[in-house]
Amino acid sequence: MARERSLVLFKPDAVQRRLCGRLLTRIEEKGLKVVGMKMLRLTSEMARAHYREHVQKPFYPALEAFITSAPVIALVVEGPGAVEVMRRLMGPTNGREAPPGTLRGDFGLSRQMNLIHGSDSVESARREIEIYFQPHEIFEYESVLDGNIALPDE
Ligand code: RTP
Ligand code: MG
Repeated sequence: MARERSLVLFKPDAVQRRLCGRLLTRIEEKGLKVVGMKMLRLTSEMARAHYREHVQKPFYPALEAFITSAPVIALVVEGPGAVEVMRRLMGPTNGREAPPGTLRGDFGLSRQMNLIHGSDSVESARREIEIYFQPHEIFEYESVLDGNIALPDE
């Protein structure tokens, strides 16, 4: 499985509800490696760049108001199949429908306030990472766990 990167956001509701530590723990426990992390508040321009496929949709104004309402924590996580692994860890968009055991299923009741974002493809991840991170803010490092999490060629 190829090593991939995903852009993850702990959304304003996660920051407000002080759940970021819980979310990060679940990502780390899964075995994904954090290679970038920062807190920032999205501007309207960043929100439009991030959610460009939704800008014309009726729910976009509410989405932008929400995502810019408080700071977020942005992360780059890395691992084998990281994009799909993160999507499965988060669960479906709506917290009411997300199954228990997923982050949205365990912590949320809302379609909009769904706590966490993860890129939906490797191409989206590349595009989104560039919105949030300069190259020098992403760290290549060996971890003693790397050899105990998955085989390089599995
Ligand atoms: P995200 O991009 O934030 O990780 O969420 P997602 O892939 O699960 O869902 P997506 O379809 O990309 O929608 C992005 C965010 O827009 C809000 N939304 N509202 N009112 C609506 O019909 C509606 N649909 C989506 C949600 O906050 C969703 O996370
Ligand atoms: Mg999405």
